[in-house]
Amino acid sequence: MTRILVLHGPNLNMLGIREPDVYGSLTLPLLDEMIRAAAKEAGVEVDIRQSNAEGELVTWIQAARERYDALVINAAAYTHTSIAIRDAIAAVDIPTVDVHLSNIHRREPFRHRSHIAQVAIGQVSGFGAHSYVLGLQAAVHYLRGRKVVPQPTA
Ligand code: DQA
Repeated sequence: MTRILVLHGPNLNMLGIREPDVYGSLTLPLLDEMIRAAAKEAGVEVDIRQSNAEGELVTWIQAARERYDALVINAAAYTHTSIAIRDAIAAVDIPTVDVHLSNIHRREPFRHRSHIAQVAIGQVSGFGAHSYVLGLQAAVHYLRGRKVVPQPTA
């Protein structure tokens, strides 16, 4: 069965408390339930983890090689700063979707750049919790399409 790793970065454990006007009132356990329901619906297995530590996220991405078919990641603030996470994704070469609850392109200029997007197959940003559902569906769609149709290289 197709296996997808979902990673949440720093401060996402604070969802529900943290800036609800920006991130909504949903807590992380409820968001994870939504992701699990979407995975069940899509017929894929999902593992979900959260860390506030850059190195731990890097270690999990490295270990994902040969264990997962795709990665859906909201690296949170590390999206804009972490070359280490970007390089880990490039190293394992797993199809990756860069997801964000808020629309990072409508926010402060320092949030406009995503190091993750540069090594991702695509980005979903601005749909709240639904960004993860769309990101998971996009990863599944990509994997299924890749099996039957050769993808053009950029
Ligand atoms: C975020 C956007 C980031 O800029 C921010 O640092 C986060 C969350 C989002 O999901 O909208 O922590 O990744």
